[in-house]
Amino acid sequence: MKHMAFFASIFSVAVSSWAMADNFSAEEAALSAFSASDVAVHNQKSDCWFIIDNNVYNVTDFISQHPGGEFIAKFCGKDATAAFRGQHDNSQDAVLAKFLIGSLAQ
Ligand code: HEM
Repeated sequence: MKHMAFFASIFSVAVSSWAMADNFSAEEAALSAFSASDVAVHNQKSDCWFIIDNNVYNVTDFISQHPGGEFIAKFCGKDATAAFRGQHDNSQDAVLAKFLIGSLAQ
């Protein structure tokens, strides 16, 4: 019985450190910093990143879903802030957030 308690406590330490490590890497991923030239490489419909408000988004999977049409692919690799803000109110920000991969290095 003593052994069971020992193994149970080792197991719970292992699980909680795994969970902490997992949270840490998710946070790290969200904080990745890209330069404008890192983004510029992703300039086609099959590999498309946008900069909006100094954040970087991988919108490759969204282009064909965009209710406003696939013409947004012309912004791949570029800063789409003015175009996006000109056509949408803040209610689209939640959709946008799903594609966040990092921020623009200043
Ligand atoms: C990942 C980025 C984007 C997201 C999440 C997004 C989301 C949406 C959504 C949900 C709609 C339909 C609802 C609405 O009209 O508000 C829409 C429509 C539209 N979007 Fe986007 N959009 C994005 C990027 C862009 C960009 C870069 C442009 C460039 C001009 C654009 C132009 C439009 C236009 C013209 C419409 C049609 C509006 C209408 O029918 O009245 N969108 N977008």
